[in-house]
Amino acid sequence: MNEKERIDFLRQEINKHNHAYYVLDTPIISDFDFDKLLYELIELEKKHPDLHDINSPTQRVGGAVLDHFQTVLHKFPMLSLDNSYSINDLKDFDTRIKKIIDIEFDYVCELKYDGVSISLTYENGKLILATTRGDGVQGDNVTENIKTIKSIPLELKGDYPDIFEIRGEVFISKSKFKTFKEKTAQQRIDKGLEPFANARNLASGSLKLLNTKEVSERPLDCFLYSLLGDKLPSKNHFYNLMKAKEWGFKVPSYIEKCKSINDVSEFVKKWEDKRSALPFEIDGIVVKINDIDLQEEIGYKAKSPRWAIAYKFQAEKAITKLNNVTYQVGRTGAITPVATLEPVSLAGTIVKRASLHNSDQIEKLGVFVGATVVIEKGGDIIPKVVSVQDEEKNLFSQQIDYISNCPSCDRKLVRNEGDAKHYCLNYLYCFPQIKARFSHFVSRKAMNIDGLGSETIELLIKNDLINNFDDLYYLKRDKLLLLGKNVEKSTVNLLNAIEKSKTVPFERVLFALGIRYVGETVAKVLANHFSSIDDIISCDDLTQVDEIGDKIAKSVKDYFCESRNIKLINNLKNIGLNFNSKNKDLKSKKLDGMKIVISGVFNLSRSELKNIIEQHSGKYVSSISKNTTFILAGENMGPSKKEKANSLNVKLMSEKEFLELLS
Ligand code: IVH
Repeated sequence: MNEKERIDFLRQEINKHNHAYYVLDTPIISDFDFDKLLYELIELEKKHPDLHDINSPTQRVGGAVLDHFQTVLHKFPMLSLDNSYSINDLKDFDTRIKKIIDIEFDYVCELKYDGVSISLTYENGKLILATTRGDGVQGDNVTENIKTIKSIPLELKGDYPDIFEIRGEVFISKSKFKTFKEKTAQQRIDKGLEPFANARNLASGSLKLLNTKEVSERPLDCFLYSLLGDKLPSKNHFYNLMKAKEWGFKVPSYIEKCKSINDVSEFVKKWEDKRSALPFEIDGIVVKINDIDLQEEIGYKAKSPRWAIAYKFQAEKAITKLNNVTYQVGRTGAITPVATLEPVSLAGTIVKRASLHNSDQIEKLGVFVGATVVIEKGGDIIPKVVSVQDEEKNLFSQQIDYISNCPSCDRKLVRNEGDAKHYCLNYLYCFPQIKARFSHFVSRKAMNIDGLGSETIELLIKNDLINNFDDLYYLKRDKLLLLGKNVEKSTVNLLNAIEKSKTVPFERVLFALGIRYVGETVAKVLANHFSSIDDIISCDDLTQVDEIGDKIAKSVKDYFCESRNIKLINNLKNIGLNFNSKNKDLKSKKLDGMKIVISGVFNLSRSELKNIIEQHSGKYVSSISKNTTFILAGENMGPSKKEKANSLNVKLMSEKEFLELLS
C-alpha cells in the first residue's frame, strides 16, 4: 500500500469508527487505537498537501476562525409546525386531514427533539452545506461548525441520491450537558458569566460560535428527521428515514408508523410518561403523514405544513413571589406590564421577569405586589404569569395601580375601544419607540443590517446621527468613528451592510417600515398583490385583497395618510430602496383571479403545476369550496373529491386541457 492508498484507507477506517462510536453507540476499538489512526492520518496529510480533502475526518477538529457567517437562501423553506396541546386537538387535526383526503393512510409519530434545527445538503455523498433555520427563508452557513459533530457523516455509504437535503435537530444529551456544565462552571464564573443553564441554549449558542475549535469542544449531537429532494428513494417518509440510516445518519429508533389517530394518542401517552427516562430532552411529539404525495396534496400554510402537527407537552411551571411591576414601551407605543420576580429556576433557566400582558389580565388574575404566582414557559417565549396562589391579600400585599402616563416620555396613555393594550401616542419623540422602530427596521427579516445592535442604535440616536430610517443611509465613516464605539473594521462592515440593504426585496422593505399589523405575512400578501408601493397608497379599499381585513386596511391607510410617512418613503425611494414587486417570471394573466385545486396524479410534478399556476397569475388552493374556479384533475382523483366538486358545480380540467389553455 503506498501513502496515497494508506490515506484513503485511514480516512475510511476512521469514518467507520466515528459511525460506530457516535451513531451506533457501539465502539469497535479503544480510544487509544483510534487516536493512533487519527494521528497517523494527520501526519500523512501534512506530508501530502496535494491530497487535501475538506471532508477528511481530520477536518473535524476545527481550527478555522470565521469573521461572520454567510447568509444562504434555503432551497426548500424551513417551516415550523403548528402546535396542539390535547388529544382532542389531535383528533381535530385528523378530522381536518380526512376532509382533504379520502383514502386510507398512515401517520408517522416521532419525538420532538429539543435542540436547534439544521439543514444538511449532500452532493455525491459528501456534505457540502449546513445551514441554520434563520427566518425559514434564509439561514446561516454553519458548515464548518457542523463538520465538528462526529455523528454527522461527512461522507455517505450505500445507494444515496446524487443530491438531497436532510434536516434534523442538533442537541446535547442530558448527561453530556451535565458534565460540560460542571466542567465549565468555574471558568465562566471567573469571567463574570453564569454557568450554562440548559442544553438547548448551549446547542444553539454553539452553532453561532465563529471559532470552530471552540465548537469542536462542545458535546453536540444530531438526530435527523426528514429528507428533501427530487430523487429520494421513495414517496414514503418512514422508508426514506430508514434508508438515511443505512447511509450513515443518526436516525432515532423512537419513531413509529400509526394506522389511526388512536394509535397516535397511545404513542403520545407512552412518551409523556417515559419522557424523563430518555437520555435527551424532548418537548413533545411530531405527527406526520407518511405518504409524501399525500403530504403534497394536503399542502401548506404560509409557515407550516398542513400535513403535520406537533403535540406539545405541558409547559413547565414554577412558583415564586411577585416583587414589583414595571412597564415596557413597544415599537408601536403599546405598553406591556412586566412582573419582577423573586428569581426562580424554570426549565433550566433562572427567571426574573414575566409578562402580565395588559391591565385586563392583571385584573383577571387578581395579581398584586407580594403575591405568590405560578409562572409558565413555552418554547422561546418569555415566561408569563398564569395564576395567583394566595387565597387573599395580606398586610404586605400592594394593589397594582396601572400607570396612566408613559413610563418613558410621560405622555398620557390612550386605550381605544377593542384594544387590550394601552398606547403611548408620542410616536415622534418617545425614545423607546424610536429605538424599537430602528431595531425592527434593521432586523434580519426586514432590512437585515448586521452590526446595528440596540446599544449602537441608542448611541446613534442620542448623538443625533439618526432620527428616521433614511438617516441611516447618510451615515459617514468619520462620524461613526468619532463615536469611539466602533472600531474601523466594524464601521466598514456596518456601512457595507447598510449599502447592501438597498437590494432587499419590496416585501421586506414594506415589513421594515413597521406599519401596525403589517407583519411578515401581510407584507408578503400586499407585495404579491400590488406591483408597487404607489399602487398600495392609491388603493381605496385594501379589503378587496384576499387575507386583508378591515383592521389591517385601516392601519395601512392611516399610515399613508400621514405626510411625514409619504416624505420618508420618497426619501427612501431616492436613496434606492426597493418599492416595486418583481413579479417573478410572470408569463401571463390568463389565470388571474382564479382559484385552482390540484388533485390526482399527473405527468408534471405538483410543484411544477403550482409554479405554472402562479406564473400565469392564478392562485393554488388546497381544498375545494364554492369559490374554487376549477380542479386540475389527474388520474386517480379521490371519489369524495369528485363528489364534492359535483355538488358545488366546480368543473374539472385535465392536465392536457390545462396546458393547452396556457399555450
Ligand atoms: S419536522 C415541515 N420532526 O421542531 C416540518 N421537526 O416547530 C418540519 N423538531 O424547526 C419539522 N423534532 O427544529 C420535525 N421529529 C421532528 C422534530 C422537529 C424537533 C423541531 C424542528 C422544527 C420545529 C418545528
